[in-house]
Amino acid sequence: MEIKKVGIIGTGTMGLGVAQVIATAGIDVVAVKATPGSLDRARNTLVTGLAKLVERGKMDEGTKNSIVDRVTFSASEQDVAPCDLVIESVIEDITTKKALFQRLEQIVAKECILATNTSTLSVTEMMAVCTERVRVAGLHFFNPVPVMRLIEVIHAFETSSKTVTALMEFSRKVGKDPVLVQDTTGFIVNRLLTPYMLEAVRLLEHGTGTIDAIDHALMTGASMPMGPFSLADYIGLDVVLAMSNNIYQDVRQQYCSAPHTLIRLVQLGYLGRKTNKGFYDYSKKPAIPNPQLRHPVA
Ligand code: 3HC
Repeated sequence: MEIKKVGIIGTGTMGLGVAQVIATAGIDVVAVKATPGSLDRARNTLVTGLAKLVERGKMDEGTKNSIVDRVTFSASEQDVAPCDLVIESVIEDITTKKALFQRLEQIVAKECILATNTSTLSVTEMMAVCTERVRVAGLHFFNPVPVMRLIEVIHAFETSSKTVTALMEFSRKVGKDPVLVQDTTGFIVNRLLTPYMLEAVRLLEHGTGTIDAIDHALMTGASMPMGPFSLADYIGLDVVLAMSNNIYQDVRQQYCSAPHTLIRLVQLGYLGRKTNKGFYDYSKKPAIPNPQLRHPVA
């Protein structure tokens, strides 16, 4: 089955990244804004990101324009009707996603694949509200989507092998390296990365090391591209907390529970890079560890 047109519901960081990658591979995209707001703003975010690549000599102007031309922005879910694949990338809320899948089934053709980009929610639970369950699967991208090579193709309880094959082929066509994963909470990457970030927060709370010492240690001692605190800020602390809660809900093990400091930062609205403050304070250039979290041993 050839996927020629893709619908994306949700135009946040992930949705736009997914749109960019797919359009770069020469496939038409309908990007639907899931919440009220300006379509121009979403389009401008895409254009600005691509313009930066042009500025840095990574892309020519013609390629940039053809990518932008391939993405149609819309405020209506109905516009994904002609798509062969729809990927949802809306808020991490199971009720919202289930309702969306039910609406999508009324819009698209019977053969259209419905995929979720959820980070830790159950694909099978979304599948359960659908009539044509065999076409439901997970297609999990990583941030920054244009850079990270992995896509986790999630095989949920009743996903057909035809759907899985189509998604594996599609992932390769858009330049990614897919792995097939069974539907378990957090799949592979988030199931391992989440406790790793949570444990780093516990080390900070225990006074084992400072934020920059722990980040530095993991970068230079384990070749991580970012330390756990930079990564958590990059992903968004609200997202990390949600991942922690979802995984804990499933495995009920202490190592997956959210540490106090993470909960407090989210309660205060310090969500990482997107709010300019999290474990680091990004209002300073270069960013400095958040002074409110300085531990006595520092
Ligand atoms: N869009 C396009 N290109 C980008 C980009 C973006 N948003 N961000 C970086 N790049 C490109 C740069 O152009 C550069 O390309 P080049 O090598 O051709 O010059 C390359 O990526 C490296 O970028 P930089 O030199 O600016 O910065 P770094 O070398 O520090 O790399 C990073 C930045 C790629 C973000 C790197 O730090 C990294 O890999 N961090 C870890 C990210 C990670 O673990 N992501 C997964 C998070 S978990 C997740 O997403 C799951 C979800 O469910 C929550």
